[in-house]
Amino acid sequence: MIENLELILTRAQQALAGVEQEADLQAWRVRHLGRSSELSQVLDGLKELPREQRPAVGKRANEVKTALEAAHAARQAKLQATALEQALSRERVDVSLPGRRIPLGRMHPATQTLLEVYAIWREMGFQVYRSRDVETDAFNFELLNIPAYHPARDQWDTFYTTTPGVLLRTHTSPGQIRVMRERAPEPIRVILPGMCYRYEQISARSEIQFNQVEGLAVGENITFADLKGTLNAFARRMFGDQVQTRFRAAHFPFTEPSAELDIECFVCGGAGCGVCKSTGWLEILGSGMVHPTVLLNGGYDPQRFSGFAFGMGPERLTMLKHRIEDIRYFWANDLRFLEQF
Ligand code: DAH
Repeated sequence: MIENLELILTRAQQALAGVEQEADLQAWRVRHLGRSSELSQVLDGLKELPREQRPAVGKRANEVKTALEAAHAARQAKLQATALEQALSRERVDVSLPGRRIPLGRMHPATQTLLEVYAIWREMGFQVYRSRDVETDAFNFELLNIPAYHPARDQWDTFYTTTPGVLLRTHTSPGQIRVMRERAPEPIRVILPGMCYRYEQISARSEIQFNQVEGLAVGENITFADLKGTLNAFARRMFGDQVQTRFRAAHFPFTEPSAELDIECFVCGGAGCGVCKSTGWLEILGSGMVHPTVLLNGGYDPQRFSGFAFGMGPERLTMLKHRIEDIRYFWANDLRFLEQF
């Protein structure tokens, strides 16, 4: 009987030495220590042994059981330690590796110019007034003194919605009527930034969508001298103190008189080059004294009130500043372009 116990012990120990998996360890336990294991059978059969053999066999059987339980616990601890070690080396994090850089976004070049323009006008007391992109024919044209069939409509063709008379604005000028109707008869000093749309052949010089910044000052005793002084101040702040400017007579239906503002070409210093098309000057905005009809449409008595207005294109200003030769870059979403700003 004792020999049998020794055999049980050695076999179990040998089997345990080959156990590498948690599941096999479970099976080993059932087989060698479980209810129907050989060892349990020996323990169960103790009472059938001759009385004098019982103490010795019982003692040894219990020793074997304790030894196997201890061996099981040791093996289990070893397996767990190995598993942990493997997991640690498999999932190792090398904290000394430099992190992967997350590409930082930045402001779009047109937005950068817009913010610069806002800041300049803010210093001069002009509020930002937001006006809608979807307009009516009345606001985009009629109320700005551009009746149907007026030839000036040709330069402002646009996209029409399926609702008759509702369109995408071709310029920020309709905002003039909206702000005047809201504020009349109070004096006004606002800029009106936003997207404009035109039905155009897309080319290096024309896009179907672009920003404008409109400006409007209305009050008593506002003269053309105010227009010139204010716009000159803007040009100096935007392009530097030394910039030379000139006002050139122009025509817009909503202003009278009208003028375009040029700055001296900063590429050639006025001598004439490819950028200024040999004129020495670069056009930066359109402007004029608000037409009496427009003042009236806005709710101001043109006998008492006057005002000046202007409109500029931030993309155009950005193109001049950075010598960008193709306006299509602005919405092409090409990182090679955008990352330069
Ligand atoms: N709305 C004009 C355009 O889109 C720009 C403009 C010219 C606006 C003269 C004005 C202005 O307010 O006085 O071409």
